[in-house]
Amino acid sequence: MPERRLPISTPAAAGPRRHPRRQRRHCRLLVLPAFALALVSLAYLSFSSHPNLPFHEKHHDMASIKDVKERMDQRQTLDAKVKANLSMTKVESEPFKRRKKSRKHYVPCQIEFLPSVDDLVEPGIYNNFTGFSLNYISKENVSSSNGIFEPLFGGHQSLQEREETYYARNQTLHCGFVQGPEDYPNTGFDLDENDKIYMASCHVVVSSCIFGSSDYLRRPTKSKIGPYSKKNVCFVMFLDELTLGTLSSEGTGPDETGFIGLWRIVVVEKLPYKDMRRAGKVPKFLAHRLFPFAMYSIWLDSKLRLNADPMLIVEYFLWRNKAEYAISVHYDRTCVSEEVLQNKRLNKYNHTAIDEQFYFYQSDGLVKFNESGREPVLPSCSYHYLMI
Ligand SMILES: *[C@@H]1O[C@H](CO)[C@@H](O)[C@H](O)[C@H]1NC(C)=O
Ligand SMILES: *[C@@H]1O[C@H](CO)[C@@H](O)[C@H](O)[C@H]1NC(C)=O
Ligand SMILES: *[C@@H]1O[C@H](CO)[C@@H](O)[C@H](O)[C@H]1NC(C)=O
Ligand SMILES: *[C@@H]1O[C@H](CO)[C@@H](O)[C@H](O)[C@H]1NC(C)=O
Ligand SMILES: *[C@@H]1O[C@H](CO)[C@@H](O)[C@H](O)[C@H]1NC(C)=O
Ligand SMILES: *[C@@H]1O[C@H](CO)[C@@H](O)[C@H](O)[C@H]1NC(C)=O
Repeated sequence: MPERRLPISTPAAAGPRRHPRRQRRHCRLLVLPAFALALVSLAYLSFSSHPNLPFHEKHHDMASIKDVKERMDQRQTLDAKVKANLSMTKVESEPFKRRKKSRKHYVPCQIEFLPSVDDLVEPGIYNNFTGFSLNYISKENVSSSNGIFEPLFGGHQSLQEREETYYARNQTLHCGFVQGPEDYPNTGFDLDENDKIYMASCHVVVSSCIFGSSDYLRRPTKSKIGPYSKKNVCFVMFLDELTLGTLSSEGTGPDETGFIGLWRIVVVEKLPYKDMRRAGKVPKFLAHRLFPFAMYSIWLDSKLRLNADPMLIVEYFLWRNKAEYAISVHYDRTCVSEEVLQNKRLNKYNHTAIDEQFYFYQSDGLVKFNESGREPVLPSCSYHYLMI
């Protein structure tokens, strides 16, 4: 299997998984606690094909739980299928602002990108999926059994409705940004109209977020980003007001045009979740809602610095392989159950809630990752330990 590596930055790495996995476009992930997806994704890029979201799977008429489970098993297998080297800055094992500790140092991998974007030609649509269209529920007024309505950003989706969303058919589903009836407070993630207009103009997007002033802002390495991308790619950094305030007070806030380096700063008001990790999942997983006309998007964890031209990344990981989705493999952990343990160890979330969520995944058909399964799995970059 060919080696696939990607140098996006300094002390980190992980491999991308690449396989057609349209389900990611779905919104079920949104309702999960923040820890749930930390596992797989330091960064991912995706090939979006708005407004029709084509699914890999065929349309099924009857939604049976068994089918759902089988497909989830398949998804697991696919997940493990392709892993490769992806070099990114990652200091994940080290909490923000905690220093002077022995920590793992991740060596960036070399990736053979094209030398320049000059001869790049965007391919036509190469995926071969059932075409169908999705609409999103933007307002609802479902009362709970006790008659009290509580507006939720993710809406009130029943488990049955959730199952239905797995099928590739024209449908209207919950996908965040759900408002309650008039007179109820809105559910948050409010953006300025001008930002929305800008975001709707993006064809290729690199996005990231920092909420709760929980991290440094890392600027893309300008010298690695060519003039084409500087001009045509949207680099959007979502910040909340707290983070913006911190940056401004440190003298590193946005300039008068709203940029910090290449990042266009988009301030989010009223974060829908108190847990910042959870709030950060909104731009991460709902990029297709935030950038409704974008064809390609790259999500960068705030711990990563973009250290390669985004068009070259898209070419390398998507176009060259006719892939529609690429995701980095976690350096240390390849299995959700390990991630569960780690999240508890680091006290990232209420343990009971973590367990509940994990049982839920298992009842959905999640099985333990098996490295000796059918598909070859490429290792991540090697790393060594540094004493600092
Ligand atoms: C698309 O997929 C169908 C069914 O899997 C297959 O029969 C067909 O040849 C494919 N078309 C292309 C252009 O790959
Ligand atoms: C979805 O609806 C469109 C018309 O709006 C139709 O052409 C298409 O066949 C439908 N797709 C599915 C999978 O039902
Ligand atoms: C919910 O909205 C529908 C349509 O807008 C309306 O007919 C219905 O009366 C509303 N239900 C409640 C409980 O407000
Ligand atoms: C932790 O989660 C459980 C189950 O969701 C809940 O019952 C409990 O109140 C939570 N504890 C705290 C401290 O939030
Ligand atoms: C992992 O997969 C291999 C090959 O398919 C199989 O022999 C082995 O029993 C599996 N291990 C576990 C723990 O499921
Ligand atoms: C990953 O990167 C490391 C370090 O650059 C290299 O030694 C290793 O062979 C690579 N493996 C693959 C599968 O790309």
